[in-house]
Amino acid sequence: MDKIIFPAQRLAGVVRLPGDKSISHRYAMLAAIAEGVSRLENFSTGADCGSTLACLREMGVPIASDNVTVSITGVGLNGLQAAARSLDAGNSGSTIRMLSGILAAQPFQSEISGDASLKRRPMGRILDPLTKMGANIEARDGNFPPLRIRGAPLRGIDYQLPVPSAQVKTAILLAGLYAQGPTTVRESVPTRDHTEIALREFGAGIQVQGQCIRLEPRPALRAGSFFVPSDLSSAAFFLVAALLIPGSDVVIKGVGLNRTRSTLLDVLLSMGAELAISQVRHCHGEPIGDVAVRSSPIRGGVIQGATTAAVIDEIPVLAVLGASSENGLVIENAAELRVKESDRIATVVDNLQRMGVKARAWQDGLEIPGKSRFHAAEMDSFGDHRIAMAFAVAALAADGPSVIHRAEAASVSFPEFYQMLDTLRAD
Ligand code: S3P
Repeated sequence: MDKIIFPAQRLAGVVRLPGDKSISHRYAMLAAIAEGVSRLENFSTGADCGSTLACLREMGVPIASDNVTVSITGVGLNGLQAAARSLDAGNSGSTIRMLSGILAAQPFQSEISGDASLKRRPMGRILDPLTKMGANIEARDGNFPPLRIRGAPLRGIDYQLPVPSAQVKTAILLAGLYAQGPTTVRESVPTRDHTEIALREFGAGIQVQGQCIRLEPRPALRAGSFFVPSDLSSAAFFLVAALLIPGSDVVIKGVGLNRTRSTLLDVLLSMGAELAISQVRHCHGEPIGDVAVRSSPIRGGVIQGATTAAVIDEIPVLAVLGASSENGLVIENAAELRVKESDRIATVVDNLQRMGVKARAWQDGLEIPGKSRFHAAEMDSFGDHRIAMAFAVAALAADGPSVIHRAEAASVSFPEFYQMLDTLRAD
């Protein structure tokens, strides 16, 4: 689908966004192997979380979905059934990597794969620890989907994560639920900790000390009722849009503010953004609050090291903000961007250049000159949801109507994106 985006004069209003994608995946997987019925409110409406639900249904998990409330009847740790066909994770790296941790422990064989983008994404990072736990997994060329997983009795391991990846950490911890003996995961760069929080809420034996996570297997997880905070990574598009378009004033309600995700807000504040956070409360261990943003002059700067890892999903839209900043933006230590839904270093620079911004890339980073003007252009999502949305935001600040090709990619995480963006136009 081609989407025409007209420039915006001003954005204003109050919005409530769909549930967090990362948290929704975790609640769905844990609810599926818990005992009892779990009720998940404000569940992500994105296609990625739909892929997780579809895979769980294929393995015999009863799931009822009523708009944004999902009810999952847990089958217990040992109640999953072999799927009749290959499991389809669609575009979702979270689904294939995290679910593999559970599949590795089942007394049956599974195959899991996905779309063309997913088939290019590296899986060696989960194969290594899961194999050390005793799993038997075959991957195309030893690294890529489809994965053929022959479940086996697993043993706990003590594993230092070589790449900062919450998906890998989660795969290990989910496998650890089934292992003989405790499982320990050590991180040198902290990653999102939704799995640790959710495991505790579902009654697992988990302890976190600094950057060391230890899980003691227990015979059962218990179902529960959960509310999913709105997705801060989706909110990022509206935050940047409001910062970019002069005179804008937007409030986003009920957003997840987990400290392993909210570095985005620290980065925006450090660049001079006018942000105010209010109504902070906790929901099942996850902080949640309202974020108000006003258009403000942005300085730009350098994003590097652990900060890059903490805002990895927001870099496409931060790059857009960087182009309009005073001093420009440099992003370093970002090799992981090369193996996301698209090669995001390449796709960000390509689209920026189409708009006339003289961005430059190298192997693990990019540089975006400040004080750039966005010229109306034809951009491509490259099939990547965050690229579609980041450049729809850039198009709001362009000097005429722009086109996003393959704009439907946004529905992987945020199907309501274009319509919600339009409700904020106060032209
Ligand atoms: C996610 C972790 C991150 C992130 C992805 C979601 C998660 O990936 O980019 O969008 O829910 O755990 P990595 O774990 O590969 O860094």
